[in-house]
Amino acid sequence: MHQVTSSLALPILDADLEARLRARMDEVEEALLGHVESEAPFVTKAARHLMEAGGKRFRPLLCFLAAQTGQSPDTPGDQANVRTAACVVELTHLASLYHDDVMDEAALRRGAESANARWDNHVAILTGDFLFAKSSELTAALGPDAVRIQAQTFSRLVEGQILETLGPGAEDDPLEHYLRVVAGKTGSLIATSARYGAMFGGASEEVVEALTEYGERVGVAFQLSDDILDVASESVESGKTPGTDLREGVPTLPVLFALRSTDPADARLRELLSGELTDDALHAEALGLLRAHPAMAEAREYVVGEAAAAKELLAALPEGAVRTSLEDFADVVADRSS
Ligand code: IPE
Ligand code: IPE
Ligand code: MG
Ligand code: MG
Repeated sequence: MHQVTSSLALPILDADLEARLRARMDEVEEALLGHVESEAPFVTKAARHLMEAGGKRFRPLLCFLAAQTGQSPDTPGDQANVRTAACVVELTHLASLYHDDVMDEAALRRGAESANARWDNHVAILTGDFLFAKSSELTAALGPDAVRIQAQTFSRLVEGQILETLGPGAEDDPLEHYLRVVAGKTGSLIATSARYGAMFGGASEEVVEALTEYGERVGVAFQLSDDILDVASESVESGKTPGTDLREGVPTLPVLFALRSTDPADARLRELLSGELTDDALHAEALGLLRAHPAMAEAREYVVGEAAAAKELLAALPEGAVRTSLEDFADVVADRSS
């Protein structure tokens, strides 16, 4: 029995395209359940925990959409490869969430208890490792090029996470450092989602390249939106705890913009943002001031600019429902934080 996907992360206007994507996404959902099986029942339980808690499945959807730009996305062989690639990117993402929640000391993920909160850091880290291993095993079926791309993607993701932990050096511009972190930790995997789709759907070299770059830019915009939502949204919407970045001392786009202000009215916010925000009262005060600050609108504008730049890269694609959906995809990413 196929599980029915509740809704796609993106409204697809073309009914035929939507039906095809939905069918593919349902197959991925079922395949993923099998891929997180371990011989040890506890490992299966821990790995299924976040898989079943929800998630937008944004990366597999992008993979399938990108595959539609190819010559042969719906022939059985290519279809199987694209489906495998879609599972690879979601498993890699899922693994990174287990590790990220340890790094960010997060208690909530996908509206459920994080694995580190439900069990402990050891279980969360090892389950993440297990999922990375599953993802690599699956990539082997796609051949050496895919394995190399997966390994490079994974190193960029990890480098991004490490650079975030280190923070900018004395010589670094904080905004440049932040954008480098975001491209590494999130742009890399979203770029690979689009790239795999285009590659295994049989797209031309030119289209593969354009979609890889598009994925990278959309991925950056996606993370910037996520960082705005970390300030602006409540747990019921995001399934995560608001203000996690502030509490962990990770300066994101709205914070970096607010810190540039020389307005004396912002003195208190600047003071709070320059210190530790682990105290609940100070954290709540900083979050309240930041939410009301014009830096939020400035950050949103920046994201809209990134999404527009991503869309321009689609000029390499023929006009039609697939290109329109990829344009909408960039818009949805930018709009979700406004
Ligand atoms: C969360 O990613 C981590 C980021 C890179 C921002 P998603 O927002 O895609 O998380 P799920 O899969 O929908 O839970
Ligand atoms: C997550 O970044 C990036 C990866 C998982 C690689 P964040 O720490 O900003 O994401 P959330 O807010 O926890 O989803
Ligand atoms: Mg996090
Ligand atoms: Mg993080």
